[in-house]
Amino acid sequence: MRLFTHLCNRLSRIAMLWLAVLVWLLPAPARADDKRFRLSAPAALSQSGLLQHIIPRFALKTGVRVEIVQDGMEAEIALGPQAGRAVFEGAGAVWRLRVDGTHPGAVRFADWLTSEIGQRTVTSYEVAGVAVFSLPDVVDVAEIGPVFEGDVVLGKQVALARCGRCHAVSPENQMTTIGSTPSFAVLRTFADWDVRFQSFYALKPHPAFTQVAGVTQPFAQNLPPPIAPIEVTLEELEAIIAYVAGLTPADLGAPIQVQ
Ligand code: HEC
Repeated sequence: MRLFTHLCNRLSRIAMLWLAVLVWLLPAPARADDKRFRLSAPAALSQSGLLQHIIPRFALKTGVRVEIVQDGMEAEIALGPQAGRAVFEGAGAVWRLRVDGTHPGAVRFADWLTSEIGQRTVTSYEVAGVAVFSLPDVVDVAEIGPVFEGDVVLGKQVALARCGRCHAVSPENQMTTIGSTPSFAVLRTFADWDVRFQSFYALKPHPAFTQVAGVTQPFAQNLPPPIAPIEVTLEELEAIIAYVAGLTPADLGAPIQVQ
């Protein structure tokens, strides 16, 4: 009987050990997968040589491996002329990037490709001394991270008309603004720029002269706005934010201090 209990104990210990080994082994493939993802691209792009130029550079920098698969096949990232964020143009199309899901390696690739280094890697690709790909003219609203769905064209108009009295909104009004007021390109450098724009009417100096229909209280009788007031609707504000999303953040050299 004793021998039997002893055997049972031993067996269950062995079973436990196996279980531990299994648990240890299970997440391993998942971990390895983080360092490898599939990118689908149409023949026109995969035959252009660009992917062979950029992917090894990305892999060298990040240790993430990219497998190119045919257009239409299952992949974590798709580069194609249809949907997504415009990342470069050339070989007869504007190429757009779509990230399907949240694969860490794929997200990293999207970040890298849209970063300055990634873009420079794309534009430095040459065939017989001639650059083949350039950056797209239109800077699309980022599809990675928050998506701003306002009307970019309306946003620029409204911003020029109402904010442009003080802020440099675009190169067009740069020379006619109040120099001490931060330009939109500078505000765009803040990591939380979108939060600041969403609540700008509550941030100084705006409350004194800004009305947002349905949001702000009317100016107090005894505190009329010191300057001609500005009015925006929430839809216009959303449009402004979509416009600012597409601005290239000002190049300030070192990161600037959050005020
Ligand atoms: C009368 C001048 C004036 C107008 C008009 C104006 N602003 Fe400003 N804005 C300023 C000044 C000055 C600052 C800098 C405040 C500071 O540094 O404390 C500022 C700062 C900001 C900030 C950053 C706020 C913060 O605290 O981070 C945002 C965002 C902003 N403005 C958006 C807008 C938008 C959007 C409009 C138009 C709808 C607009 N502003 C219109 C003067 C103006």
